[in-house]
Amino acid sequence: MAPATYLDPSTALDVLQRYEHRDGLSLDELMTSKVHGGLTYNDLLMLPGRIDFPASEVKTETRISRRFALKTPFMSSPMDTVTETNMAIHMALLGGIGVIHHNQSATSQAEMVRAVKRHENGFINNPVVFSPRHTVEDVLDIKARLGFCGIPITDTGKLGGKLLGIVTSRDIQFQPPTTPLGDIMTKELVTAPKGVTLSEANQILRVSKRGKLPIVDSAGQLVSLLARSDLLKTQNYPLASKHSESKQLLCAAAIGTRPADRERLALLVEAGLDIVVVDSSQGNSVFQTDMLHWIKTTYPHIDVIAGNVVTRDQAAHLIAAGADGLRVGMGSGSICITQEVMAVGRPQASAVYAVAEFASKFGVPVIADGGIGNVGHVVKALAMGASAVMMGGLLAGTTEAPGEYFYQQGKRVKAYRGMGSIEAMEQDKPGTVGLNGSSKKGKPVENAATSRYFSESSSVKVAQGVSGDVDDRGSVTAFLPYLHAGLQHSFQDLGVRSVQELHSGARAGTVRFEVRTASAQVEGGVHGLNSYTKRLFA
Ligand code: IMP
Repeated sequence: MAPATYLDPSTALDVLQRYEHRDGLSLDELMTSKVHGGLTYNDLLMLPGRIDFPASEVKTETRISRRFALKTPFMSSPMDTVTETNMAIHMALLGGIGVIHHNQSATSQAEMVRAVKRHENGFINNPVVFSPRHTVEDVLDIKARLGFCGIPITDTGKLGGKLLGIVTSRDIQFQPPTTPLGDIMTKELVTAPKGVTLSEANQILRVSKRGKLPIVDSAGQLVSLLARSDLLKTQNYPLASKHSESKQLLCAAAIGTRPADRERLALLVEAGLDIVVVDSSQGNSVFQTDMLHWIKTTYPHIDVIAGNVVTRDQAAHLIAAGADGLRVGMGSGSICITQEVMAVGRPQASAVYAVAEFASKFGVPVIADGGIGNVGHVVKALAMGASAVMMGGLLAGTTEAPGEYFYQQGKRVKAYRGMGSIEAMEQDKPGTVGLNGSSKKGKPVENAATSRYFSESSSVKVAQGVSGDVDDRGSVTAFLPYLHAGLQHSFQDLGVRSVQELHSGARAGTVRFEVRTASAQVEGGVHGLNSYTKRLFA
């Protein structure tokens, strides 16, 4: 046999340049192919690029609206089992942003926005407060449920009341449960004035050797509390999303498109809101475009994220009406049955690609909302052209999500429900059971979940979501850094150093894609093992 003639190995890179075969497809080739229908994240994959930088060098900074940029592309969804004060504070501290839900009264939602804007790392701005008439038994109850018993006492029993004393574990020791706290509280107090910095307050605590430091205003009214135990674990948050001028944490909140939502927005703006999300399952409506026009003329300093949309046509209407960002997704959410019941929606990867491709021409960022189940989905959403992802189910099991943990078939879980579930749409209806098992009484209030699905005037409520529970995921203070580090490592594999490089690489065809067949998806998952444990990070 004649010996094979081979090319000189040192010419491999030059040969590659002229090679007729190119691995994979460009994003446009992948998404405009007529061979397959709409694609989900699981239907596609990216091919590896070249690594010539450490993962830590990857920048995940991104714009979520015309004027607001975040250091990480993570947003929490405006759902009543996902984003209230605690989640919004921690999302912002960790470099993302939380969107506070509107399935509650306007005043309560505004109070949550105010609490996020007022948050200073280390200070407890919503401490448990008692009055002198509360008893030792009340303190024991807090200790059993929440694990602490250092509680400030004010004349009203509320934050903002005049500070009268403090009760600690030593004060209640050996006391009968019915003893009023006014009889046993410590009245010699060490306090710090409102406006004190964290390091000054830290110093006062150190010298005083006390466990708690109440912060009071000039009238002696309690404004917040500092705990020694918290100081020890106070973290630095280098990625925190802060307003460039006020340095306060960024906060977003959702509203609907009804006339009453204009009054709601007024309260939210007064509370310091930065970004409003107009929340609708089908954003291309005259109600939403009217609302957008009104917001842009009434509050020009507020950025508006509009949606939800899944087509260029829908997007064009909202962009023309003034949207500063677009939320993309219809039927992709983990709790969603819209595609099943309405027969309307779009597979999420195709939806994000189409809307982002169009919106990028107008400088309007796109948020991929729903269907994010792991780090890979985040990367794929960004590769499709999204600037950020919005998550519900992935965050609903964290400590910072609303609601208490409970046990379901031996597993520690938290409730998670679609805003189009019957349970969410009937929230506040007299006689129904609230999220935490509380029974609702009194007059029904206008329900935001029904308006998201245009069901407020229907006699029959047609569900577009389900109600269930998700596994305990621990704290977002560990989970979000995992998502962030995972993203950096994935970008390194792709050979791109930033979200912008990923977008331009996908547009230029240097980032390459491939469709995953059903068997490719099986191959790409764990297979062939009898049993295994799947620990995602350490
Ligand atoms: P997840 O992250 O996959 O759990 O999806 C969360 C997203 O699903 C939300 O941000 C909403 O856009 C969407 N969503 C929330 N509730 C419902 C519902 O009841 N039906 C359909 N979609 C919903």
